[in-house]
Amino acid sequence: MAIFKKKPEPELSLADIILPEHVGIIMDGNGRWAKKRGLPRSAGHTAGAQTFRKIVRYCSNIGIKYLTVYAFSTENWRRPNDEVSALMRLFKDYLTEALSDFKDDSIVIHFIGDRNAFSDELHELMDDNEEISKDRDGMVLNLAMNYGGRAELVSAVREIAAKAASGELDPSSIDEQMISDHLYTKGQPDPDLIIRPSGENRTSNFLLWQSAYAEYVIMDVLWPDFKEKDMDAALIEYAKRNRRFGGV
Ligand code: IPE
Ligand code: IPE
Ligand code: MG
Repeated sequence: MAIFKKKPEPELSLADIILPEHVGIIMDGNGRWAKKRGLPRSAGHTAGAQTFRKIVRYCSNIGIKYLTVYAFSTENWRRPNDEVSALMRLFKDYLTEALSDFKDDSIVIHFIGDRNAFSDELHELMDDNEEISKDRDGMVLNLAMNYGGRAELVSAVREIAAKAASGELDPSSIDEQMISDHLYTKGQPDPDLIIRPSGENRTSNFLLWQSAYAEYVIMDVLWPDFKEKDMDAALIEYAKRNRRFGGV
């Protein structure tokens, strides 16, 4: 009798799969990357910023429609002053560069988070980047800076409560759509896939409301080591998931 061996599943490539519309990335592991090399944590952030540039370009090229990257959380102010300053310098470099380098590009730059906490200079760079890119037709890049999912919900609740108090809306008309419409991501689809490099299994306050049905892919690679092939691996893993949204 012939023995039939089960054929190994053929390796999928990006050409075989349906891409998620909205991808979120928690860019984590910069500090550990630096520590492994005996370098200061800021060197990890510098390396992570290069990975960020590369992966943004890659996602735009392969046709991702929305990319949200977690760059600085509302809790990251707790870090030592010199680390926070190094991050602010990297933000400034990137936002300055984006104003000219992306001139001919199609990426729409949008910030999510409370930008009032940043210096006037950074605040202005954020406004200028949004203004210069707002009519482009390519990938929407949400940069989560001083972002916290809880703070975002607090701000939405305040806005809705103020409208209720002034009689602009009836509290009984508050529904899920209204809450979504008061978040920083209003008008955008919820994330389908959230990637967390560095192996941590937690949300760390990222897109709490929006990620209700997101697929999480936790990866063992540290963010500065993250390559295009790691992005492909996460996208292929996502494509294999069976999303049920509570149905059968
Ligand atoms: C992510 O890397 C960057 C920011 C939070 C700004 P970390 O700095 O958190 O790196 P680890 O987690 O300490 O390795
Ligand atoms: C989440 O990473 C924030 C960013 C990547 C910007 P953290 O490193 O701050 O998260 P925890 O502290 O490990 O949960
Ligand atoms: Mg971390």
